[in-house]
Amino acid sequence: MTKTEKIATLERKTAEALLGGGQSRIDAQHKKGKLTARERIDLLMDPGSFEEIGQFVMHRCKDFGLDKEYYLGDGVVTGYGTVNGRLVYVFSQDFTVFGGSLSETHAEKICKIMDLALKNGAPIVGLNDSGGARIQEGVNSLGGYADIFYRNTIASGVVPQISAIMGPCAGGAVYSPAITDFIMMVENTSYMFVTGPNVVKTVTHEDVTSEDLGGASAHSTKSGVTHFSCPNEVDCIMRLKKLLSYLPQNCDDEPPLLPYEPGDETRPALANLVPDNPNQPYDMHEVIYEVVDQGEEGFLEVHKNFAENMIVGFARVGGRSVGVVANQPAVLAGCLDINSSVKAARFVRFCDAFNIPLLVFVDVPGFLPGTDQEWRGIITNGAKLLYAFCEATVPRVTVITRKAYGGAYDVMNSKHIGADMNYAWPSAEIAVMGAKGAAEIIFRKEIAEAADHEAMHKQKEDEYNQKFATPWRAAHRGFIDEVILPENTRKKVITAFKMLANKATSLPPKKHSNLPL
Ligand code: HXC
Repeated sequence: MTKTEKIATLERKTAEALLGGGQSRIDAQHKKGKLTARERIDLLMDPGSFEEIGQFVMHRCKDFGLDKEYYLGDGVVTGYGTVNGRLVYVFSQDFTVFGGSLSETHAEKICKIMDLALKNGAPIVGLNDSGGARIQEGVNSLGGYADIFYRNTIASGVVPQISAIMGPCAGGAVYSPAITDFIMMVENTSYMFVTGPNVVKTVTHEDVTSEDLGGASAHSTKSGVTHFSCPNEVDCIMRLKKLLSYLPQNCDDEPPLLPYEPGDETRPALANLVPDNPNQPYDMHEVIYEVVDQGEEGFLEVHKNFAENMIVGFARVGGRSVGVVANQPAVLAGCLDINSSVKAARFVRFCDAFNIPLLVFVDVPGFLPGTDQEWRGIITNGAKLLYAFCEATVPRVTVITRKAYGGAYDVMNSKHIGADMNYAWPSAEIAVMGAKGAAEIIFRKEIAEAADHEAMHKQKEDEYNQKFATPWRAAHRGFIDEVILPENTRKKVITAFKMLANKATSLPPKKHSNLPL
């Protein structure tokens, strides 16, 4: 073969690989409103930065006619490049090749870039669009999945891992995304479930569509499996890039520090945000938007439609990445329940693993009462959030805007469990319980003996309120570092995080902790 012929072979094979399963299947993919594996990578990566690895890999299966059907790349495009100028490893499953199904070699390609990402300390992004295990390969495919699950677990807490689900993701295949740090789903074109509608129908006699069972809506509102529900693929990839912008490359790295020009950081809108009536709700988002850089635009909310009584998300204050955790008094009065505790606990642990400081806003009347919560384990699940905060060694700043009652006061990043700076607004109420309940218990006798029970109850309630439903007891004890005017919150928080930038603290050596799962 001449040199020209050899080069022509390379060109022919490259062109073949770029076509995946062929033009008609690419057209079919587009008709479904989906992009191809390569189009997704083009959107994700900085232009011209993507370097492909394993473009010519082929499967090794000889059964069920596969010895006559080969596609270069074997259903997954893998490689590395830059996103916002920083190194990222990516795999993008190609639905046009055997439905993006996972063969032994397909899995090997994914594992190869995962190993590189771990060795070189950079995030792994998985763009998932797959019919699951390559059925013709049997256990070889299952082994391939397990190789990926194992690496997902080993890489957990070392490099950020993000999964975007852009098509089917079913059966055991769901467990790779589940182990990664964040799952994003595209509305109407993606779904995730362990068993599909047909199996559900056979076993439980329920009639359910794929979308209702495991679409983006179900997983962003009901199960909490997905952290982001995106209207389309472009939005999904843009959000993924934004998410990466808040994160460090690995657990030994610091999140990017953006330039910050100090200005007038007073935020007058905060002065009148908390209503005088302690039972009246307000939207904690407003507080967050006033405090973080770039307002609403600068806040990337995670799990937006799940456990809405807790708000979590990424933002920057004074150019520094922070993880925001906030009670939402506008939903369930901001009570802590099972879902909100687990949601916030996982977020806190992610931030702590990746050196992202925590900014916590507190307005919490307590834990949600009821048999449903108790029997489903609010004890164990609430403990997850407590545990996550206790363990976190990143800089931690708390702002109590209103209620901080009972155990929830302790849990929500109190001084006692390791927070560094604790602020309270003058409207803060820091006490064991609400005044009504407290008066009923400690003044039961006086109320019973009074001629006018109701008037006595009210009087005792007021007494309790005046004494305890304030920030002052806590401030006198030093549990609150400063009582601040709401309008100064942004300035205080920026200054505090700057002061804490070199915080160094560590936990006692151990094999690993034992989070109450
Ligand atoms: C091999 C597959 C495949 C698979 C799809 N294809 N899934 N090939 N193994 N798992 C092929 C099809 O034969 C077809 O080939 C092409 O991909 C596109 O598939 P269609 O069915 O035409 O597409 P669509 O109508 O969009 O339906 C997509 C689908 C469906 C819903 C994903 O293909 C499907 O139900 N596939 C099987 C899913 C499944 O049961 N997987 C195994 C699950 S168990 P042609 O040549 O026509 O283009 C599992 C265990 C994992 O995954 C365990 C991990 C521990």
